[in-house]
Amino acid sequence: MRAISVRNGKGDADALFVDSNVPDPILGPRKILVKIHSFGLNRMDIMQREDRYPYPLLPESGNIIGVEFSGIVEGKGDDCSDGFSLGDQVFGLAYGGAYAERIVVSEKMLMHLPSNLSFLEAAGAPETFFTAIQAIFLVGDLQPGQTVLIHAGASGVGQSAIQLAKVGGASKIFTTAGSQEKCDLCKSLGADTAVNYRTREDFAEVIERETNGRGVDLIVDLVGRNYFHQNMRSAAMDSRMVIVAAMSGSKVDDFDIRSLINKRIWLMATTLRTRDAEYQGRVRDTFLEKVMPHLVSGEIRVTVDKVYSWNEVSEAHKRLESNVNAGKIICRVD
Ligand SMILES: NC(=O)c1ccc[n+]([C@@H]2O[C@H](COP(=O)([O-])OP(=O)(O)OC[C@H]3O[C@@H](n4cnc5c(N)ncnc54)[C@H](OP(=O)(O)O)[C@@H]3O)[C@@H](O)[C@H]2O)c1
Repeated sequence: MRAISVRNGKGDADALFVDSNVPDPILGPRKILVKIHSFGLNRMDIMQREDRYPYPLLPESGNIIGVEFSGIVEGKGDDCSDGFSLGDQVFGLAYGGAYAERIVVSEKMLMHLPSNLSFLEAAGAPETFFTAIQAIFLVGDLQPGQTVLIHAGASGVGQSAIQLAKVGGASKIFTTAGSQEKCDLCKSLGADTAVNYRTREDFAEVIERETNGRGVDLIVDLVGRNYFHQNMRSAAMDSRMVIVAAMSGSKVDDFDIRSLINKRIWLMATTLRTRDAEYQGRVRDTFLEKVMPHLVSGEIRVTVDKVYSWNEVSEAHKRLESNVNAGKIICRVD
């Protein structure tokens, strides 16, 4: 089959190319073969392309990049349930292999495409919504009426988290983003206050002012080092902070654990790709229960930033690396 490969095994965006000589994936028990329509881009794809992905890749993911896709069921392995039939339109999460014409995945990681979602939108939904489900509900344990701060609000994960916090009953949603346009987008998704971090405004001061000094109950952080001290200032007593990424760096200077102790802050971190199939299946089921009805009703949406043909995958990666995207970058398998 054809798939995207990296010339010489690692390199910059220009090293990506459509390789027409890649072995077909092999169908096994309780696995489904999907002919891929589109795949979503994620930042871990850049690390994998550069051969600096920080965790060992699982054997089933192989070398092909890509963890989310949409497409059509083309084959079923032995012992599959009746959940999916040949010809079904589906989307799903994978450990790897989505930058390709075909993929084989566990049936636990697939979902039926609702009629109001296009293949392009669906290809960009699993990774960010599954991650946000962990951050907001499974790990973050947001309760109705609580306040939440979500960093990088216009990122894929940030947009999903804002919308989940809204349907989860958050009483006030604070967010940060890097332009007025991105702040406006966050507000259109449900954020009450969006702080443009490129202005002089300090999000910790805004939160102190707007919560009368109380702080927020839950922080979802994707930024790491640059925000750590302000996050400690913004956390309420008995609050929780879930670290999902450290886009500004992971080493924090002058961190005094007394700041955690004084406010009894629960500091947690989570990842999705390193979770086993059982856990990811549970996240899929939570998605079907808590997110899918809102996607069908239109209350929750997937923002597609830009669609490329997979022949332009290098350009798509360059856009992701430039940080200008607000939402998902999608490649269509042509
Ligand atoms: N733990 C997990 O399981 C998991 C799962 C999925 C993703 N992630 C990670 O989560 C992060 C976000 O992923 P995504 O797909 O949502 O990203 P995305 O849609 O590509 O958006 C990333 C945005 O983050 C902002 N940003 C980048 N560097 C920043 C910095 N130093 N300080 C503040 N903001 C910064 C930029 O927007 P502005 O213009 O607003 O700055 C950028 O557009 C990535 O690091 C990704 O690897 C982790």
